[in-house]
Amino acid sequence: MAVGIFDSGLGGLTVLDAVARRLPDTPLVYFGDNANAPYGVRTADDIYDLTTRGVQALFDQGCDLVILACNTASAAALRRMQEGWVPPGKRVLGVFVPLIEALTERKWGDNSPPRPVAVQTVALFATPATVSSRAFQRELAFRAIGVDVEAQPCAGVVDAIEMGDMILADALVRSHVESLMRRMPKPQAAILGCTHYPLVEEVFREALGEGVAVYSQPDLVAEALADYLARHPDKLGTGDQSIFLTTGDPKSVSNKATQFLRRRIEFQAAN
Ligand code: DGL
Repeated sequence: MAVGIFDSGLGGLTVLDAVARRLPDTPLVYFGDNANAPYGVRTADDIYDLTTRGVQALFDQGCDLVILACNTASAAALRRMQEGWVPPGKRVLGVFVPLIEALTERKWGDNSPPRPVAVQTVALFATPATVSSRAFQRELAFRAIGVDVEAQPCAGVVDAIEMGDMILADALVRSHVESLMRRMPKPQAAILGCTHYPLVEEVFREALGEGVAVYSQPDLVAEALADYLARHPDKLGTGDQSIFLTTGDPKSVSNKATQFLRRRIEFQAAN
């Protein structure tokens, strides 16, 4: 009954951690494509090829449902995967929708036409590939009108986190926030649109200052997944063990993951 969680690297662990707290009895199989991270500077074709390979590895582990805990893959590859690649009986879900539902205060499955919502100015922080896909704005336009989105491609932040250089990650976050706030000085809300960013969420909050509502994905995705599984219990696959797979060096990835999650995580090599 395992659920698969995919990311280009360490960021999806922020989602895994929230899911493990929300659904403690559900085995989770994690796939981090650390050898190929970051995805955020790659082409859409490249992201599609790498993502389908990783998701296939999760299907092979007995997962029928895979969460793309990666905004870049959700933005650049998910629709193409859902339209022509996902095999019958399997399901792949992204991480944008729960976030946008929370921002627009819409309930799951509310398909009424887009309408004005409380929040009108939104700062979006994401990888260059996510920002240039405009997937966030597209999903938002299905639900809300009159929302001004200012997006900041946060080059370098994922690389710094993957290298474990948190001083560099901190400095880059501050400079990206400063740069966005020169264009939009008082956003009502800020979206952390990359699953690596909750690892530096405090830095974002500090740099944004008080009065900006920060939307971060892990808890929102965990809640949406719990809701989805309650309605689709058949999507709990046959896998019965929690395992962590990486295309990178298992020892170094395990050490960084342990440091981030503050509990021992042992990765094994993905074949
Ligand atoms: N965690 C991925 C995301 O949510 C990072 C992508 C990357 O590897 O650049 O977008």
